[in-house]
Amino acid sequence: MTSADLVLAGSYDYGVVALSAVIAILGSYAALDLGERVTFARGGSRLAWLIGGCVAMGIGTWSMHYVGMLAFRLPVSVQYHWPTSLLSLLPSIFASAIALFVVSRPTMGWLHALGGGLFMGVGISALHYTGMASMRMQAMCHYSLALVTLSVVLAMAFSLLSLRLTFLFRVEASGRRLRKIASALLMGAAICVMHYTGMAAASYTRSTKVPNLSHAVSISSLDIAGIGMVTVMVLNVALLTSVLDRIQKQRVFLDELFEQAPQAVALKNVDNQVVRVNREFTQVFGYTPHEVLGRSLNDLIVPEESRHNAQRNAELVALGQRVDAEVVRQRKDGSLLHALMVGVPVSVPGRQIAAYSIYSDITRRKRAEEELQRSFKQLRELAARLQSVREEERARVAREIHDELGQALTAIKIDLASLMRALRTDQEEESEKAESILKLVDQTILCVRRIATELRPGILDDLGLVAAVEWAAEEFEARTGTKCRLDLPQDDIVIDQERTTAIFRIFQETLTNVTRHAEATEVDVRLGREDGHIVLEVRDNGRGIGQEQLSTGRSLGILGMRERALLLGGELIISGTPGKGTIVRLRIPQAHPVQSEDSE
Ligand SMILES: Nc1ncnc2c1ncn2[C@@H]1O[C@H](COP(=O)(O)OP(=O)(O)O)[C@@H](O)[C@H]1O
Ligand SMILES: [Mg+2]
Repeated sequence: MTSADLVLAGSYDYGVVALSAVIAILGSYAALDLGERVTFARGGSRLAWLIGGCVAMGIGTWSMHYVGMLAFRLPVSVQYHWPTSLLSLLPSIFASAIALFVVSRPTMGWLHALGGGLFMGVGISALHYTGMASMRMQAMCHYSLALVTLSVVLAMAFSLLSLRLTFLFRVEASGRRLRKIASALLMGAAICVMHYTGMAAASYTRSTKVPNLSHAVSISSLDIAGIGMVTVMVLNVALLTSVLDRIQKQRVFLDELFEQAPQAVALKNVDNQVVRVNREFTQVFGYTPHEVLGRSLNDLIVPEESRHNAQRNAELVALGQRVDAEVVRQRKDGSLLHALMVGVPVSVPGRQIAAYSIYSDITRRKRAEEELQRSFKQLRELAARLQSVREEERARVAREIHDELGQALTAIKIDLASLMRALRTDQEEESEKAESILKLVDQTILCVRRIATELRPGILDDLGLVAAVEWAAEEFEARTGTKCRLDLPQDDIVIDQERTTAIFRIFQETLTNVTRHAEATEVDVRLGREDGHIVLEVRDNGRGIGQEQLSTGRSLGILGMRERALLLGGELIISGTPGKGTIVRLRIPQAHPVQSEDSE
């Protein structure tokens, strides 16, 4: 017999090889998943997950190696010593325990990873070679030291890889599923490579020695299928438990979220009946869950006058639309509350739509808002009153100055004139004195007129808005030398005195601002009517008002102008372009036609 005859040529059953690969991949996936479970479990449940995980993974690893070993066929009958086989389960569970322990720690330093990989590799190698030792046949087994070493090193290297990957994937996060599957494939492939390297390390030669077949069993294809199936089942149960555990945790989490939410939440079924409410709902509306279950919110918390709107909102939600609304609702004790309501549709299987409604009680905010509005209104009224009082006062003072002072000065002038006439021709000195007094009186008369006009331009009352604007513009041009182009209506704009005054004062203030701030050379003024409004537009070509002057509340002149416009239901818009100029645009509705009281 030649030595070639002595060597037993082995072959692989590829179906079984494939089965071993499937088990390796499934086992790897289970390992990734269990790593995650153990990491997040605490106390007693952590120990349970650790033990359950070790056993499931241990069986998975063990089974993969056995199935892989059974894929190898020798031309002699092979039996297996079952106590040894069973013994090999121990290093497998040991390796799994190390793995789960290492990956579930808060951090993974290189030392831990290396140590874990080393021990796990040793465990897997022990499993593998103990498994090989359980073979009973009429043949001798020889090991190639180089390949054995290689297989042990590979076992360690792949263990290290698996540990790192599992550690990376232990954090639950959506979108990681695909990467998790990819990692499981990689790990499964790695396990197969290690295993079949180990198989290649052994060669068998024919032997005449009859093997000791006590406690040995032969394993048929059917048994292999059985082992594979049981393993797959074990791993599936482990994975399923893991999924159930996760769902349970999420449920608890969501329940807590629902109950503790600071808004009142009601879940409704497709028939619009309440199926669940949270604690805040009871707080806000006064109904206990027991009192609302199975009933419609419309009957319970919607006041009579809001039913129609509530119904419409419910219909929108039923169509799959989200509804946001400010609503009025009723508590159990009949009191009303303002609430922000959000109606959200939820699709449930069977194409039906259920919904939940969320309410935040905004009664207090609403009250504060109303209070604020009221005090705003009062302030406006006060400001309006002050304006009109000021205007009246100015007019009165102007009249007094004009009439009383003016008349007195005119009288002085007349008397002085007659006095001058009475002077003799030789009284030259006295005559000169009188001349200068007369001049002074004339100047004073002019001065008094100017002051009176400034206080209240008589032109405004006598000739109307258009003439007053024209006069003020001319004054402005004469005083500042800034060219002023006017675009005024042909006829006068006849509106009530309040409006006339307001528009005129805003115009004056605008021109003052141009003088003081704009450094403009030209100003365009347009006054006209636009669909029921009086519009005044003043454009200058100066440096342009800045955004900060417009947005700060400190520009009191502008604020006053705005207030005046608002009081009359109008608006004032100011815009500026740096270096190009400023546009002030005022729009005030024309006075309502005087309402005649129809008397029959
Ligand atoms: N026509 C303008 N051109 C450039 N800047 C302006 C113009 N009008 C107003 N401003 C800017 O807006 C600011 C606020 O104006 P205003 O409220 O009238 O206050 P005041 O005139 O008392 O400074 C001014 O200080 C000025 O900087
Ligand atoms: Mg000003």
